[in-house]
Amino acid sequence: MQQIKPAWRDGYFRAKVVSVKKLSMDMLEVTLTPEMSWPMHIAGQHIALTIEVNGRLTTRVFTIASGANTHQRGKRIRLVTKVKAQGALTPYLHTCVPNQWVNISAPMGEFVWPKTEKPLLMIAGGSGITPFIAMLDDAINNGKVNKKSVHLLYFAKPDEHVLLNELTAFSERCENFTYDVLTRQKDGDVEAHLNNFANAHWLVCGPHAMFKQVESYARKSNTSVSSEHFAALPVVSHTSLTESETFSLVHNGQSLAIDNQQTLLSQLQQAEQPVTYGCGMGICHQCQCVKKRGVVRDTRTGELSDSAEQLIQLCVSQAVTDVEIQL
Ligand code: FES
Repeated sequence: MQQIKPAWRDGYFRAKVVSVKKLSMDMLEVTLTPEMSWPMHIAGQHIALTIEVNGRLTTRVFTIASGANTHQRGKRIRLVTKVKAQGALTPYLHTCVPNQWVNISAPMGEFVWPKTEKPLLMIAGGSGITPFIAMLDDAINNGKVNKKSVHLLYFAKPDEHVLLNELTAFSERCENFTYDVLTRQKDGDVEAHLNNFANAHWLVCGPHAMFKQVESYARKSNTSVSSEHFAALPVVSHTSLTESETFSLVHNGQSLAIDNQQTLLSQLQQAEQPVTYGCGMGICHQCQCVKKRGVVRDTRTGELSDSAEQLIQLCVSQAVTDVEIQL
């Protein structure tokens, strides 16, 4: 199949790279044309993107930073991401070239334009601006922002705000949309800016600390809030690397108690869970699945995975934290 359709993978969609562009020192814009069968996204949703890094398929999740109307008109979607120097995928995104095929998942996620009559307050931290750009792209094109006021508080480090020209264009096209470009250093914490918006529905997307501040303020002021935040990373304890420990393995909505001594494959088999496998020694890739969260150890090399979404082989993976997989 790969010879007829390069980068074909069961359960994933293919997308062709249109361009990869640097937006700032460490922000990249990747434009893709998904294959025709890719389901239309709702602005605010994200996808898993898989590319090959040093011969290994590596998957990460990115919010789509363009609206569904942009996809309908131009057959393109756009990802905007921060390049993390130590990351497993983002430092390699610049190696993608036009017309190269990559894999993407179906769109996922519930963080979308809310069904409410209230005005909206969008609160973005760093790369958390991306779902709001997508939502505004659709809402302004569909006339939704003419019916209610929408204000955006956009926090980032000094000189790290991106897509400001698009925010300016949105506000010029629609007088009900306004925004503030803020830094904590100059403008203080997010809490200092929430006072005037108690009657609005709040949407927050950004680092966990920002989300906690907004959530606690919303509770005190009895304000409704929807959120998408970058979760705190699970911590690998020293004992989980040296001594026997028990963790939970969540797969397809079920939870299983597992240990850190046996592979995920053998424990799934013992629990009589339906799982596909072949060689049992890391060669055939038939046991490959998506790890959604948690850290695993490769039994061949002792190498620890990071905690983000990626492909793993069940027959050579042991848990060192709680783990969630998609079988
Ligand atoms: S069963 Fe063959 S790689 Fe895991």
